[in-house]
Amino acid sequence: MKAVITSTAKYLPDSVLNNHDLEQILDTNDEWIRTRTGIRERRILKDPEKATSFMCSEVARKLIEKRGITADDIDLIIVATMSPDMIFPSTACLVQKNISASNAWAFDLSGACSGFIYALHTGAQFIAAGTHKKVLVIGGEKMSAVMDYTDRTTCVLFGDGAAGVLIEPGTDEEHGVLDARLYSDGKGCDNLCMPGGGSLHPTSHETVDQKLHYLQQDGRQVFKSAVVAMADVALEIMTRNNLSAKDIDFLIPHQANHRIIQATAERMGIGLEHVAVNIDRYGNTSAATIPICIAELDEAGKLHRGSSLILVSFGAGYTWGGIYLTWV
Ligand code: COA
Repeated sequence: MKAVITSTAKYLPDSVLNNHDLEQILDTNDEWIRTRTGIRERRILKDPEKATSFMCSEVARKLIEKRGITADDIDLIIVATMSPDMIFPSTACLVQKNISASNAWAFDLSGACSGFIYALHTGAQFIAAGTHKKVLVIGGEKMSAVMDYTDRTTCVLFGDGAAGVLIEPGTDEEHGVLDARLYSDGKGCDNLCMPGGGSLHPTSHETVDQKLHYLQQDGRQVFKSAVVAMADVALEIMTRNNLSAKDIDFLIPHQANHRIIQATAERMGIGLEHVAVNIDRYGNTSAATIPICIAELDEAGKLHRGSSLILVSFGAGYTWGGIYLTWV
């Protein structure tokens, strides 16, 4: 049984932080950020009382409402995030509480920027096994909470947001999640990480002084690895499924850097008109980038029965992967 996407939704905070705002607090400029990354602005969840679970709960409510079901119908909630409200309990359990999904079980999935792809593949397995009928798969991040706004090499890249899909069993073998290839390589762990706050460096005055509670990265190394990995996995998905560029309605790539997106599309032979791009408006929302793109395409009426999508991502771990699916 294939898993099909039957509802899509997104939540972006209202507050906009644009490149000119960053010029006021950092030694950077709009031209550098735009030409190196493609980002013009990003959204920030400013309310200190609200965090990732708030945005994911908003998404969950919309997913349920759009499908015309109730929270009691949900069997499972998977939240992909690297910026959970707290280490435990899981953000997914907080979402379950917020929406009163009393029949669901819930867990977080830690796959960084590949979290949504990992979570969608995981959720699809529960549908394929026939044990679950309605699974919420949500990616949500309050990246502003783990940014060092004095580090111009990282804070210009990331933004806050959440989005997700409802998956259910399809009625045929031709529609839904048709193929997935997921990878990880822990050797990349030092190039992109948040070293503090875990059991290795529990939070202390010292870890805070050393800024270990912020995301740290070697941007150049990550860039090089991402370009190769995303294009390779996209081509692998095409080959495995006998797809040529003309068979693909939309490439939906993780939105980390416009140059990485372009390089992936070029290797696949796909024109940019068939590529979902919103990095200019939201920056990198990590696990939320791909479902935000899916929700925007759906809202714009661009997804029809049979539309073929390839999702590809790369993130900390390293983690990367691709999914091929067709719309119902
Ligand atoms: N504004 C102005 N200048 C900046 C800057 C900023 N925000 N950030 C870095 N610079 C400077 C650097 O200090 C460097 O100066 P130097 O040459 O005097 O040392 C110069 O710009 C070039 O830096 P470099 O790192 O070579 O730039 P780049 O073209 O590689 O772009 C990234 C940097 C971070 C945008 C790019 O490497 C990238 O996108 N990497 C991937 C990061 C990522 O996506 N992480 C998450 C993955 S899911």
